[in-house]
Amino acid sequence: MLYAILFRCHFEVNILDASDTITREVLDNSKEMVRDAITRKFDIKKIMLSSSNTLCIADFGCSIGPNTFIAMQHVVQSLKEKYHNTNILEFQVFFNDHVTNDFNALFRSLPIDRSYYAFRVPGTFHGKLFPSRSIHFAHCSTAIHWLSKCPEELLDEKSQAWNKGLIHYVGTSNVEVLNAYVAQFEKDMEMLLNARADEIVEGGMM
Ligand SMILES: C[S@@+](CC[C@H](N)C(=O)[O-])C[C@H]1O[C@@H](n2cnc3c(N)ncnc32)[C@H](O)[C@@H]1O
Repeated sequence: MLYAILFRCHFEVNILDASDTITREVLDNSKEMVRDAITRKFDIKKIMLSSSNTLCIADFGCSIGPNTFIAMQHVVQSLKEKYHNTNILEFQVFFNDHVTNDFNALFRSLPIDRSYYAFRVPGTFHGKLFPSRSIHFAHCSTAIHWLSKCPEELLDEKSQAWNKGLIHYVGTSNVEVLNAYVAQFEKDMEMLLNARADEIVEGGMM
């Protein structure tokens, strides 16, 4: 059910987000959740800070802005508030998306008054993108439901899951089509979670 909602969300988001309205709404609605998670669970003592005062934050599936800047500023601000606006902490923000993403457009519009160092990290978030135990806070908004590929059986006319050339499942009555999407999503999520499990430091969060 959850998967079905996510897939539906995927298509609705992509059909309707010409002006980024829905992605922005999702982001705004999750802000309180992000702040709350940081306030309750982010534990800097567990995290390190013995040799460095730098916290590393990554936004997976950042696109070309501006939502990613709003999200990253919010995370940095929530961390600063939790640690009483101390100036000891420094922040590195890694902006990730596919290699084909227009990172030049993204970086041309970086906020001038940002309080973090900005880096681009091209590549798929279904694989490892960072060294082991190097990320303190991983963020992703309206992106993890993107599949890595179209399930092959959907393209095979001889398969029971043949999707008749469609690139979505909306309105289908063929349960094999739904199952193929769910199976692909499960594989993708497993790869994504394994990669993040390796990259995120003990005490960090996603
Ligand atoms: C709907 S946009 C959301 C952008 C932004 N997070 C926001 O909230 O406005 C989804 C983004 O995820 C990226 N994306 C999808 N699959 C990805 C993958 N496997 N690796 C990295 N980025 C991916 C897409 O290229 C796209 O820029």
